[in-house]
This record gives sequence, C-alpha cells and structure tokens, in this order.
Amino acid sequence: MDAISVIRAKRDRGELTDPQIDWVIDAYTRGEVADEQMSALAMAILLNGMTAREISRWTDAMIRSGERMDFSPLGVPTADKHSTGGVGDKITLPLAPLVAACGAAVPQLSGRGLGHTGGTLDKLESIPGWRALLSNEEMLAVLRSAGAVICAAGDGLAPADKKLYALRDVTGTVEAIPLIASSIMSKKIAEGTGALVLDVKVGSGAFMKNLDDARELARTMVGLGRSAGVATVALLTDMSTPLGLTAGNALEVRESVEVLAGGGPADVVELTLALAREMLAAAGVHGKDPADALRDGSAMDHWRRMITAQGGDPDAPLPVAREQHVVPAPATGVLTALDAYAVGVTAWRLGAGRARKEDPVQAGAGVELHAKPGDTVTAGQPLLTLHTDTPERLPYALEALEGAVTVAPAGTAFTPAPIVLDRIG
Ligand code: URA
Repeated sequence: MDAISVIRAKRDRGELTDPQIDWVIDAYTRGEVADEQMSALAMAILLNGMTAREISRWTDAMIRSGERMDFSPLGVPTADKHSTGGVGDKITLPLAPLVAACGAAVPQLSGRGLGHTGGTLDKLESIPGWRALLSNEEMLAVLRSAGAVICAAGDGLAPADKKLYALRDVTGTVEAIPLIASSIMSKKIAEGTGALVLDVKVGSGAFMKNLDDARELARTMVGLGRSAGVATVALLTDMSTPLGLTAGNALEVRESVEVLAGGGPADVVELTLALAREMLAAAGVHGKDPADALRDGSAMDHWRRMITAQGGDPDAPLPVAREQHVVPAPATGVLTALDAYAVGVTAWRLGAGRARKEDPVQAGAGVELHAKPGDTVTAGQPLLTLHTDTPERLPYALEALEGAVTVAPAGTAFTPAPIVLDRIG
C-alpha cells in the first residue's frame, strides 16, 4: 500500500477500499504518511466526497487509532451532547449537571475555542481553581460523585483525528461533511457514551450556513452513531444570532449559573431543556422532568458538586474585564438582525478567543447583548457592551460589527427564527 495510489484513487473520484482506509489512517497516525500527502487526500475528499461505507470505515479506523473508554462500571445510563459550535453557545454548562440531576450520567469531553466560536473548557477555566485535565480515574470519580464531568479529551482518544483536525484547520479542508462527521463521531464513539444528542448549528455563526447541508451532516452523524450502537439523535438549531445575551468566557459562566438558578435568557433555557429531554429519552431515563430540576435547585446542586470536584470554587467571584465600551442602537425601531458571526469575531478580537492553539484567552473579555432580534430599540440606547482587558483592541473589534445590526422601522412585523429548526432521528 502507498499514499500516492490512495490519493490518486480519490482524486479520480474512486471509492477507497477498506484496506486502503485502514492503512492510510494507521500510517498517518504513525508518521509514515506525510502531512502533505494527507492534505492532498483531505482536499480530494472535500472535492469528491465519500460514500456512506467509506465514511463509516474512516470513522472506525480513527476510533481504532486510540483507546476506547468504558463507563459501564458506573452502572448508570450515560448520555452526552455535542454541539458543532456557535456563538454564545454555553449550553453544555447548565445541561450536564441538569441531566445528571434527572438520573443519567454525563461524561462530557469538551474542547477549546478556535476562531470565532467559543470553547467549553475556556469558559469553565474562568472559574478560579477549576481543572480541565483529568486522568481517566479522576474522570470516573467526578462522575460518581457529581453525576456529570466536563473535561478535556486525553491524548489517547482518537489520536488520528487530533492530527488530522490540526492539518485540516490550516489547509482549508475543515468544511467537508465526511471529514466533520467522522471527526466528531470517532471521538464520541471512542468516549463510550450510551446515548448521544447532536446539536447541529445552522446559520452565519455556524460551520453549516444552510439547512440542507446541516441536515446532511446530521443524517451522516446519526447513521454513524447508530451503527456503532450509540442511541443518537440530532437537533438542528438556529445560529443566525448569538445564543442568550453573552459571548465570552466568564460572561457565559455567569449566564449559565443564572439558568441553573431558575432564571436566564428564554432561548438558553428553551434549548437546554430541549436537549436535556432528548438526552434522557435516548438514554432510556424517564424520571424527573428537567424543568423541575431547574426549579427545585437539584441541577444547581450537581453543578456545585461538579465544579468543586474539579478544584473550582463555585462561590468565587468571576473575573471582570478591565474596560467596558457601550455600542448604542443606530436607530429606533425593531431589531431584525444581530449577526452571530460578527458578534463571535468581535468577542474573539476583544480577547475571548485565540488565533493559535497555544494563545491564552482573557477570562473577562466578550460581548454582552442588551437586545435580541424581535425587540424594539430606541436610537442611542445601549445595544451591546464590549468587555476587554486590552482596550487597544477596541477599534479592530468594532470593525467586525460593521453591518451586523439591522433595525427596521417601528411597527415592522418580524418573527425571530425558532431555536429548534428540525430533528433528525
Ligand atoms: N468539530 C470537530 O471535532 N471536528 C470537526 O471536523 C469539526 C468540528
């Protein structure tokens, strides 16, 4: 077997055989296939696609490149959620302890933000003392004591995907449905969850800009999960405007705690409850309703136990950025658009995100929204507050907001998009 014949086969629109796929993933993980060869193959896959059989075998080969975790010693059904990434998407924070409070265990392996989308681990690291890196034994211990754990995936889990994702990120080959689906599902299947709910984001702030592409990605991932024995469903959800009223690390932790305390923005509560109900149903747990667990404080109890078990202080004040800058509403009328991608880039430029994997993030930086699409605004009222420790970044951050806000004349009929756009499963 050699890399050039595998690249040529896909370049010429052929179907890769099982032995070709197994070999190329294994050889790439071991360093025998060079980055430039894998880049050429990834580009050929992006341009020419893969059949369902090829995607399934590719996913399986990436799982076999590393370890598989096993939570059966817990003796409790397990459920996990994966979001394809968005702006202000803090849902994992209230969701994991909420589902734990309703009787399923939640082993949530999460990532860091790159580009305009935030990362769950960066958000939680704004809580003083909280640790993202746990050994497998520590992860199991937190799951036993708190019912939920949110931590970084260890190096042993799908190492082929770690290498390939970093390569795709710098070769313009991220946006290929076969590669996105196999990347996400190899990690989730290797993680060993019994049930999985996928939150496939659609809109300007998401990878998938339109519903048809999002449906294809969702169907591909649901098919991969089910054939691996994981009860998998997908919700397609709106990412044309940020979720909730905050985008940025500590700002989003604050909003998540509001949801756990029974308050919080309506869209965050609605999506958290919808995903929690799907996770519990997929795991076969039919006990408490998640809305009751938010009301009676049990979800908050699980949050506090989970944060404490990972070294964090749930009562410590959250970091606040040194500088605030208010952006006023440009006109009086109905806010009809507040673009998710623009807000995500603004938060990133303010210091909430990173340009390279090794960059630090500012815990307090980000964007606070004072209105959502559908609200009536008055010219000059505060529309956004920008938070940063480095005010010299403000002009560059403000540039990202150009064209992001649309205000229609007062009285214009406007109905914001629903949060849940479709369900696949
Ligand atoms: N998230 C992943 O883990 N992989 C992708 O390819 C895209 C998003």
